[in-house]
Amino acid sequence: MTDQLLTAPAPSGSDALPDGFLWGAATAAYQVEGAAAVDGRGPSIWDTFSRTPGAVRGGGTGDVATDHYHRYQEDVALMAELGLGAYRFSVSWSRIQPTGRGRADQRGLDFYRRLVDELLGHGIEPWLTLYHWDLPQALEDAGGWPARETAQRFADYAGLVHTALGDRVRTWTTVNEPWCAAFLGYASGEHAPGRQEPAASLRAAHHLLLGHGLASQAIRAGAGDPAVVLSLNLYRVEPATAEPADLDAARRIDGLQNRYFLDAVLRGRYPADVLADVAPVSDLAHVREGDLATIAQPLDALGVNYYSRLVAKAGAAAAGGRPGPAASGRLLAPAFPGSETVGFVRSASHRTAMDWEIDAGGLADVLVRIASDYPAPPLYVTENGAAFPDSLSADGRVHDRERTGYLAAHLAACRDAVAAGVDLRGYFVWSFLDNFEWAWGYDMRFGMVYVDFATQRRVVKDSALWYAESARRNAPAPLPDAPG
Ligand code: FCB
Repeated sequence: MTDQLLTAPAPSGSDALPDGFLWGAATAAYQVEGAAAVDGRGPSIWDTFSRTPGAVRGGGTGDVATDHYHRYQEDVALMAELGLGAYRFSVSWSRIQPTGRGRADQRGLDFYRRLVDELLGHGIEPWLTLYHWDLPQALEDAGGWPARETAQRFADYAGLVHTALGDRVRTWTTVNEPWCAAFLGYASGEHAPGRQEPAASLRAAHHLLLGHGLASQAIRAGAGDPAVVLSLNLYRVEPATAEPADLDAARRIDGLQNRYFLDAVLRGRYPADVLADVAPVSDLAHVREGDLATIAQPLDALGVNYYSRLVAKAGAAAAGGRPGPAASGRLLAPAFPGSETVGFVRSASHRTAMDWEIDAGGLADVLVRIASDYPAPPLYVTENGAAFPDSLSADGRVHDRERTGYLAAHLAACRDAVAAGVDLRGYFVWSFLDNFEWAWGYDMRFGMVYVDFATQRRVVKDSALWYAESARRNAPAPLPDAPG
């Protein structure tokens, strides 16, 4: 099926994306807002984790970040100049409920209302994400995502935000990348809250999905006609060789990374082979009757966050570990028993500053696979982008040719997926701005807009100009000439 779709004829050799294709850019609250102690915001797990010695490169925190909380007007004006059609941002739960429960703090809601109104005033569609990894610390203290109650608290919070903003925000993403929140947060411990408890990480994954389902219901119970989205981080996974052991390594990685989430959300069940893989870790007693039906609420769209491919090898280095140039950062698998037999090999191909392999073809593959293997709703690429060591040139510009090339290749992959029959409706660059890149702190610049963190000055990078031109044409623009 996948092959059939991929060989379908491309429409008239055109480079164009479909009419109405949405050209956007994304950020997340803790990575850009700063103002950590302003207007009653409570602490989140990232405030705590970033203060743990050794947890974040360079000791960075999100206390100030890009100060988007105070500079959102300037930032929205830049988005408008670039002609962006949509801005995907996340809400900081602990601005709305400082302890993760109880009444909403009006000051937190007001900030997002101002931001949304600013976007709407510039003709930019607000794409709101409710959870991008910053759990209120008080809920972590009560057990965090491994505790079932957190899913219910999340649904309450979703309802509060929807009641306040449902009249002006149409698109609601519940959870961003539950795989990362569960397995980097509770298995490898590379992300907040930094726990290394494999059994708890499986409970966390389930409760993040349950929270997604319950939040979808809470949002739809409110007024209006909301569109509900879930964003998953998905990869092309390939075996290093055709040896049976490597094929099985690829099956395992693909299983927990991709199919576990896709099957739960789009088919209402966990894949049997993955359940067998994780049986030594968890008896899954936390999965209750009816949960999967709640998780498989109809989606109005599925968000695909795509960065790289994974090449699986049996017996390769064990997964896990702190980020650093030697460890492929957070593309590593959770530290489950048995995962010491499944690791990744590095290919010689071109990589980003994160040490992530660049594989644009994998994006088309992932999109085609979802469309052909699943009863899928319309798709959006809700994150795609790359970190490179950008710097300001003598001419005051940032000539980030590698990022432009990365974006162009991935947008071409989007076009290929559309030509193969995928209902793909939009694309969001990660990220609009350079920002706090989690465990890598401020070392990794993913933005289309450069941020001088000492002064908070913004400088539009060349890639942003190229992206603006592409959005204007509704097709990837020609690449600029190489410097002579
Ligand atoms: C994604 C995250 C996003 C950013 C990019 C690089 O996994 O959702 O916040 O860190 O990776």
